[in-house]
Amino acid sequence: YPLKNHNTFGISAFAKEFVQVHTVAELAQVLKENKDKKLFILGGGSNMLLTQDINALVIHVDLKSKEVVSREGSHANVKAMAGENWHEFVLYTIDQNLGGLENLSLIPGNVGTTPIQNIGAYGTEIKDTFVSCEAMDIATQQIKTFTKEECEFAYRESIFKGQLKDKYVIVSVIFRLTTSDHKINTSYGDITAELANNGITTPTIKDVSNAVTAIRHSKLPDPKELGNSGSFFKNPIIPIEDFEKAHAEHPLMPHYTVSDTLVKVPAGWLIEQSGFKGKRFGDAGVHTKQALVLVNYGNATGQEILELSKNIQKTVLENFGISIEAEVNII
Ligand code: EPU
Repeated sequence: YPLKNHNTFGISAFAKEFVQVHTVAELAQVLKENKDKKLFILGGGSNMLLTQDINALVIHVDLKSKEVVSREGSHANVKAMAGENWHEFVLYTIDQNLGGLENLSLIPGNVGTTPIQNIGAYGTEIKDTFVSCEAMDIATQQIKTFTKEECEFAYRESIFKGQLKDKYVIVSVIFRLTTSDHKINTSYGDITAELANNGITTPTIKDVSNAVTAIRHSKLPDPKELGNSGSFFKNPIIPIEDFEKAHAEHPLMPHYTVSDTLVKVPAGWLIEQSGFKGKRFGDAGVHTKQALVLVNYGNATGQEILELSKNIQKTVLENFGISIEAEVNII
């Protein structure tokens, strides 16, 4: 079964078997009936690089529906099933004047995969509004509710990427959003500039969503036009001593303080300074406008993208003494 249309990198790879599930009951049934098979859970396919065919039964989680489940004071809890497209869900919340997700506009992928890597952009992460998620135990088909604490969120990390990897299928997520007194977050420089360009001084959540959408359009390739998985690498978080050593040699290195002992360095800068920005090797390339994004110009194989990523990691390590780690799941 061809997976080219099921991964935003647009890599041509095949699944041994493929099934789509539309309800929680169907998901339970498929998991139960195929206990002895190798299984592979697929959501929006927006955070993975396929480097080979998948010798497994691929289960495409296509559970739909979204609703406000409760309102209290100036907050509402909104629940979405895993297969809902993330950006459509964000627009749905904004249309109802529910605040909290606007900075996360236009991120590719589905609701069910957002907790796995605690998606984040423009000063906001999913954990800021996340209440809980329901997930099905692959072995027993029991549904378990995970609270925010139980998810162990960190920068692009959660328990579903760590200890519980391949153990659960997320079926739904609940977010706690504001119904009034929205906490407008324009701390990220790009947003302030975009709003100012449009003469907006007191932005609404819709204005912030529009600004983020415009910024993303200007820097990040649309997967429908150019295969990609967003940031391919995480921004490295390094001990302050290591940073100071690198910074002494490269005084222009941008950086953000994470804690008293840790500093975050933008991997995009390290990659650009290493000469990779806009470079193309066959159909595998580094985006012209954002060096953190690797792209497929058409017929790149997953192996070619992977090789390019390794070459980048090696060069950045040689140039700066800093290791950068893939953010994307390498399959
Ligand atoms: N930079 C460069 N050259 C580049 C790209 C970036 O020098 O080609 C430097 C600049 O100094 C720039 C800084 O990096 O000011 C930050 O760049 P940008 O605002 O584009 O953000 P980022 O750190 O590269 C992260 C997230 C993005 C998210 C943006 C905005 C990660 C791995 N990536 O990128 O998330 O949209 O911030 O918040 O943390 C994703 O995860 O797929 C993703 C796109």
